[in-house]
Amino acid sequence: MTVLLAENLQNSERFKMTLGESTVVIRNGRELRDHLAANPQESLVVIGPEFGLEIATQVVEYYRATRPALGFILIRSRLEVAVMSQAMQSGVREVVGTDDASALLAAAKRSLALSERMADTTVFQEPTSKGKVVLVFSAKGGCGKTTVATNVAEALGANGDKSVCIVDFDLQFGDIAVALQIEPTKTISNAIRMGDNLDLSGVRSLVLQYRPNLYALLAPVDPSDIEFITADLAEKVISGLAQTFDYVVVDSPPAFTETILKAFDLADEYLLVTTLDIPSLKNLKVTLGTLDALGMPRSKWNIIINRSTAKTGLSTQDVHDAIGLPIWATIPASQIVPTMINQGRTVVSGKPKHKVGKAMFEIARNIDKKMANSKDSSATGADHRYGVFSRAGKGGKN
Ligand SMILES: Nc1ncnc2c1ncn2[C@@H]1O[C@H](COP(=O)(O)OP(=O)(O)OP(=O)(O)O)[C@@H](O)[C@H]1O
Ligand SMILES: [Mg+2]
Repeated sequence: MTVLLAENLQNSERFKMTLGESTVVIRNGRELRDHLAANPQESLVVIGPEFGLEIATQVVEYYRATRPALGFILIRSRLEVAVMSQAMQSGVREVVGTDDASALLAAAKRSLALSERMADTTVFQEPTSKGKVVLVFSAKGGCGKTTVATNVAEALGANGDKSVCIVDFDLQFGDIAVALQIEPTKTISNAIRMGDNLDLSGVRSLVLQYRPNLYALLAPVDPSDIEFITADLAEKVISGLAQTFDYVVVDSPPAFTETILKAFDLADEYLLVTTLDIPSLKNLKVTLGTLDALGMPRSKWNIIINRSTAKTGLSTQDVHDAIGLPIWATIPASQIVPTMINQGRTVVSGKPKHKVGKAMFEIARNIDKKMANSKDSSATGADHRYGVFSRAGKGGKN
């Protein structure tokens, strides 16, 4: 379907005649954003001549990373070389003159054909290798879940050869946006508006880029959205992201919410964080009991003691004795953690050589190793947990 962004009524009627009756005419950028969010299947936007080049290129750049299959054509009253080159650099597919109806029609056809090819190869393609989902959890607040999630996500992507998405499933008090100083221009709330139209490209359109290979899906800004983020929506989101990124790291609230239970279902590894204090330890034991009762495989459990060097009277050995399981990793206590958070960075990016940074890299390396081993031992390939966007849905363009 084609969308025409045109303020001028006379122009819009004329262009619509060329582009086809089914063209949706939209008057301003805000309407366009809402329309595209609600209609992830849209594949062409034609921007009328009354919109300045600056605004037009901003719109195109915004969608370039998240909806690469969405094509943009610019209509200009004069075809100047400087304008055309700036437009092309921003990702505009073609620039055509106001009075050239046949050029507009031909450009629209080319763009729609290209989008269809891209959708075939990128949007609905069965992933050759599925990404892995790592859930960070602790039933006690303030143990360091967000610290572990952000640092480990950054460490997993640090080599530049893997793509990573961090997901803030602490829907009510999520602070990944604050911890990484990302402006929440998009959040998981955008998925609510897509309703049943939420498909793979819709899920991909929710994320914000933080680094070249590190993306974030942020928690709602408006707490009243939370009730609409159901287990089904969580499943679609995690499944879609796992088909898109090598790693999906999920941060959680200190509770077994509906969405977190779904995340436990879908995750490949759990990073179960505790600190050296009795309430934390008690909550860890309750968590492990719950996971056992729910049949969540112990092979996925990885116990992490955060602030392991804090002098609390409890030791790592005490935790081991209390739960009867090995401690998978420890992270020392250090002032560097809040210091880096206050600068909006992770220790991994700001102080990679610091002992806390090293501990985070070590965790990421061990996740990588576990994933490599699990790939070797499950050589048959098809993993049906991520079936919600599988080829079965390919025929109908959702
Ligand atoms: N290893 C550490 N050394 C020192 N301070 C730490 C360490 N890990 C976390 N902190 C501090 O502890 C506080 C809580 O950490 P964080 O926000 O990561 O916990 P959380 O489990 O996500 O909390 P919540 O349950 O509220 O989401 C933060 O102020 C953080 O700076
Ligand atoms: Mg947190």
